[in-house]
Amino acid sequence: MWSELEPVGRHPRSGGYRRFAWADADLECRTWFVANAAERDLDVEADGNGNLWAWWGDPEAGNALVTGSHLDSVPDGGAFDGPLGVVSAFAALDVLRARGFTPSRPVAIVAFSDEEGARFGVACGGSRLMTGELDADRGRALTDAEGVTMAEAMAAAGHDPAGVGTDPERLSRLGQFVELHVEQGRVPLTTPDGARVWGLDGYGAPIGLASMIWPHGRWRFDFAGRADHAGTTALGDRDDPMIRYADAVLAARAAAERHTAVATFGKVSVHPNGVNAIPSLVQAWLDARGSDEERVRATVADVSGHTGSRTSPQPAVEESWTPAVRFDDALRDVVATALKPRFGAVPVLPTGAGHDAGILAAAGVPAAMLFVRNPTGVSHSPAESADRADCLSGVEALADVLEALG
Ligand code: GLV
Ligand code: MN
Ligand code: MN
Ligand code: MN
Repeated sequence: MWSELEPVGRHPRSGGYRRFAWADADLECRTWFVANAAERDLDVEADGNGNLWAWWGDPEAGNALVTGSHLDSVPDGGAFDGPLGVVSAFAALDVLRARGFTPSRPVAIVAFSDEEGARFGVACGGSRLMTGELDADRGRALTDAEGVTMAEAMAAAGHDPAGVGTDPERLSRLGQFVELHVEQGRVPLTTPDGARVWGLDGYGAPIGLASMIWPHGRWRFDFAGRADHAGTTALGDRDDPMIRYADAVLAARAAAERHTAVATFGKVSVHPNGVNAIPSLVQAWLDARGSDEERVRATVADVSGHTGSRTSPQPAVEESWTPAVRFDDALRDVVATALKPRFGAVPVLPTGAGHDAGILAAAGVPAAMLFVRNPTGVSHSPAESADRADCLSGVEALADVLEALG
């Protein structure tokens, strides 16, 4: 399975992946999902929001046990963020069948659409639309860098955008969601003997469990200026928005340090983007996160309030916000118990990464997350990694959890 997905959307030089929602590589991944569901005699469907579901058992019966993740990627992303959870879901189902296990309730494998929001700007688009956290009309009207709306992209891919929107009926049929994901970053952990270590690798554990997701959001800053000639405009006679943007980047770093948060300008769009023209407009996207909302809000407020030159930046436009998500304690206890015979007491850690599991948890579906050790912690990069043996441990872990819950 893994080798089938491996070449899809991979850049020949960087080795990174570009699987933007509803574009060709994503559609290939979706075809792969449907084929894998069919091979296993699972009933496969796309919901109105384009999320793919493969059912083992009766989809209408309710109280479904759901596992899976996403197949789309950030630009130049790693191989594991998303696909590991979907591949492991199919593999865990194979393990359960080989064990002769028959679930007492429906089990579904899901691939949420557009988790990264790399194309249309809002992360976890598929799950947010389903829960109503993202308004249907706003979702359909989101545009990509070429001005293509999400509705147009869906239609071009053969998915009717009329079905987009909150889906309480489907949501009510979901009993629990367990998402397996590659570890991202290396958070400080304390071992049972009191040592302070970094991440699952430092801890010596192949598998971890999520405690919470940090609150996080995305803000767009528009720095407007006056386009002019790069060679003939005196420095004192310029209104150059690139300078204010550069100031904002430094302000974000300082504010994040002040408030013990993290802040990143990772995406910028310069108009008209000519080497010999002073820009007329710089749009830049700030991603800010922290262990609590106050830190994040204070960081963003500092950047917004920062004036780098004679014209202050326009206030930030909040494009998405995800409050802190604390995963269900009772479910985590059951999961931890299921993991114990094979893995002992697994570490429990928070994460600064957003996930569909967080969106479902916020909508009232008890959710849990399993992390598979990433030795470097690097993610959203071609250098993201996980050892094969740990990925196989992840499949066993997920199978154990599904068996305990199913
Ligand atoms: C998505 O993976 C995010 O956390 O930004
Ligand atoms: Mn990601
Ligand atoms: Mn992910
Ligand atoms: Mn994510």
